[in-house]
Amino acid sequence: MAIRQILYAGDPRLRQKAKPVKQFGPALKALADDMLETMHAANGLGLAAPQIGVLQRLFVAHLPKDEKDPQSGKDFVLVNPQIVQASPESVEGVEGCLSMPSWYGRVARPEWVVVKAMNVYGKPIRIKAHGMLARVFQHEMDHLNGVLFVDHIRRPEDLWQELPEEESKESAPEAATAVAQPA
Ligand code: NI
Repeated sequence: MAIRQILYAGDPRLRQKAKPVKQFGPALKALADDMLETMHAANGLGLAAPQIGVLQRLFVAHLPKDEKDPQSGKDFVLVNPQIVQASPESVEGVEGCLSMPSWYGRVARPEWVVVKAMNVYGKPIRIKAHGMLARVFQHEMDHLNGVLFVDHIRRPEDLWQELPEEESKESAPEAATAVAQPA
């Protein structure tokens, strides 16, 4: 396993559409393991392959363990993910991004999604994600299409910058720490 370098906004690779994964097996498993290690090292809740310069359709996610949430505390690896169902109602939530350190914004997204994907060995998986996990999945799937969370923001008051030393308890898709309430 190895920690990979995370690309920052401005890098053209973050704006490209990633290609479907065709080769499953040990090499893909090794890539996913690197992505998990990189995400954990950066205290992120998710990481998409384009964020480390790999233009393939996969992402990883992990919510910190919370006794009330059975989907927390485990590593997710989703290959060629597709949303097959989404809640009609949207909810607003605060997001950050490992590719845009210190920037946060309020984004409206469906409250839950059903995602169809494959694991690293090509086995089909289907996950219904609610709340923060649903938000992370949608944020990461945006990365596979070259979309960043800021693209969803229409009002300037919904985007703000926090300096790293300011911290709060709230968390967001890719930044588990240092998320503050908007002023
Ligand atoms: Ni992101």
